[in-house]
Amino acid sequence: MSEMKTIYSSILRFSAYLILLTLSLNVLAQDPAAPAAPAPAAAPAAPGGDEALAKQGEAVFNANCKQCHGFNEVVVGPALKDAHKRWNDDKKLKNFIKYPQKTINTDAYAKALYEKYKPSIMPNHDALPDADIDAVIAYIKTGGPAPAVAAAVPGATSPDGKSSGGSADGGTVTFLLAALLIVLLLIIGVLAMLVSVLTRMVQNKPNVSDDEKEFLFGKIQWNVLFSSPIFKGVATLILVVILFKAGFDQVYAIGIQQGYAPTQPIPFSHKLHAGMYEIDCNYCHTGVNRGKSATIPSVNICLNCHNAIKTQSPYMQKLYAAVENNEPIKWVRVHNLPDLAYFNHAQHVKVGGIECTKCHGNVQEMEVIEQHSTLTMGWCINCHRETVVKAEGNAYYDKLLAMHNKQSKEPMKVANIGGLECSKCHY
Ligand code: HEC
Ligand code: HEC
Ligand code: HEC
Ligand code: HEC
Ligand code: HEC
Ligand code: HEC
Repeated sequence: MSEMKTIYSSILRFSAYLILLTLSLNVLAQDPAAPAAPAPAAAPAAPGGDEALAKQGEAVFNANCKQCHGFNEVVVGPALKDAHKRWNDDKKLKNFIKYPQKTINTDAYAKALYEKYKPSIMPNHDALPDADIDAVIAYIKTGGPAPAVAAAVPGATSPDGKSSGGSADGGTVTFLLAALLIVLLLIIGVLAMLVSVLTRMVQNKPNVSDDEKEFLFGKIQWNVLFSSPIFKGVATLILVVILFKAGFDQVYAIGIQQGYAPTQPIPFSHKLHAGMYEIDCNYCHTGVNRGKSATIPSVNICLNCHNAIKTQSPYMQKLYAAVENNEPIKWVRVHNLPDLAYFNHAQHVKVGGIECTKCHGNVQEMEVIEQHSTLTMGWCINCHRETVVKAEGNAYYDKLLAMHNKQSKEPMKVANIGGLECSKCHY
């Protein structure tokens, strides 16, 4: 009966592989973009219908505190989430908000804060009515708005109807894989039963030829199995599926982020600098005419002006501190194509003569920069189909243009010079 054992152990081993494979697919199916845990709901406001008070507090906060404070991130001052718990006493907290610098002398915690955040300091708020300070404390207790990034990115539906949410998708895949696993186990069970029934039938048959015995009980020849075209095909297919899924997740994790406008570490205003003061985009984004990346300006460019302008502003303290510590400002990246796509600024701005606004919208009017276009492949392709190449005055295009004009009466579009070829945009 050792032959039977061989068959059974083969089946067992096969099922083990299947289970392993399913599990690994399952792990892959976990959506990296899905938030680990649901964002904590805003804690209920202080008891006693204080919602209106918190609402009023939000207005006070936006007018007086927002430039220096966020809830979940350090801006100029500390993140205010749970600040009331750290003070543990509303009276003390209120007094601190009114006269922070005076409090430093009497309160060890306040002093520690001061040491940690200097040279930034919090100004007195003694001009604010007490009621407003109570309101702002009530607002602090709510935990503030949900984090902007989490709200803006996953699951956001862009105007062209494509959803960037990957979590629901991940759930479906997991479910399908689980179903697949059950079906596979059932098939294995049925096969095992068939094998045992057949074996018993054969054993009860009196005259079994040697060939038949060899066929039924012979050891499975693994090397033959592995080198069979079917096995190779299936293995390749599985590999491709895994790779595809991993790539797909990556793309979805980035998703479409039209309208994405994260809070920056320093509230740098394009409306003020590029709009009101009409500073040229090139002055700061020095890469636009030179290469692939437009580049984000280093602190030194800011200091060309700000070692003289607004030197008392707490934001400038941040800039000076950055220079002193030789650390760049950690601007949050807004536009971000997936790695699989190649985009070059100089090609579009310098050679193509396209205005920044065509792709980035009216930056001169943006207080906070935001992603204006979808940045999808369809967006790139559509423009390449519609836009006529600026060929006059560019000797490089003379020959191409002559060739094109021989074949067609239409003006030469980007699509006609290879702007739809996969390899132009994909490495
Ligand atoms: C100009 C920037 C600035 C403004 C405006 C400002 N703060 Fe502050 N805040 C700070 C800094 C800096 C600290 C750290 C302590 C220090 O150095 O004074 C701080 C500390 C705090 C703390 C203590 C946080 C903790 O972790 O315990 C609270 C609470 C606070 N601020 C509330 C407010 C409120 C409420 C307003 C608006 C009414 C406000 N702040 C306006 C800069 C500011
Ligand atoms: C005084 C310097 C300065 C000038 C002038 C300026 N920018 Fe910026 N720009 C910045 C800084 C700093 C950032 C990063 C902080 C931010 O995102 O707000 C930035 C960010 C951006 C971004 C988003 C980058 C990302 O992360 O994807 C775009 C797009 C942009 N600028 C376009 C423009 C355009 C268009 C103009 C001209 C109309 C312009 N900028 C003028 C300094 C400048
Ligand atoms: C060509 C000059 C120039 C450059 C370069 C420049 N700024 Fe400014 N910035 C100004 C002017 C002018 C103001 C407005 C001053 C005023 O309101 O009195 C200003 C105001 C600001 C403010 C508001 C300050 C406040 O407290 O109200 C911030 C923040 C700021 N700039 C950040 C930056 C950063 C960050 C950079 C570098 C990426 C930069 N600026 C580069 C000229 C410049
Ligand atoms: C044809 C469309 C298009 C035009 C025109 C364009 N951009 Fe961009 N810009 C993009 C895309 C797409 C990205 C994202 C690139 C990436 O993630 O690799 C981007 C990214 C940026 C960034 C972020 C940093 C970087 O380079 O990745 C800045 C800053 C920027 N653009 C500024 C400008 C300025 C200033 C101009 C005008 C002089 C301009 N852009 C013109 C499409 C455009
Ligand atoms: C607003 C219109 C517009 C958009 C949007 C746009 N392009 Fe272009 N693109 C052009 C023009 C115009 C040219 C031709 C420039 C030239 O003359 O070489 C070009 C050329 C190119 C080329 C060189 C093609 C060749 O045959 O040499 C590449 C690569 C490219 N674009 C990639 C992209 C990618 C990637 C995106 C999207 C992220 C994009 N473009 C979005 C207008 C656009
Ligand atoms: C003009 C530039 C451009 C051309 C030409 C282009 N692509 Fe893309 N492609 C992109 C950009 C940009 C993205 C990323 C956009 C996104 O994440 O939605 C992308 C994404 C993709 C993706 C990822 C899946 C997705 O939809 O997000 C695949 C696959 C792809 N392209 C295949 C191709 C093939 C195949 C061709 C040739 C027929 C091609 N691309 C031609 C710009 C281009």
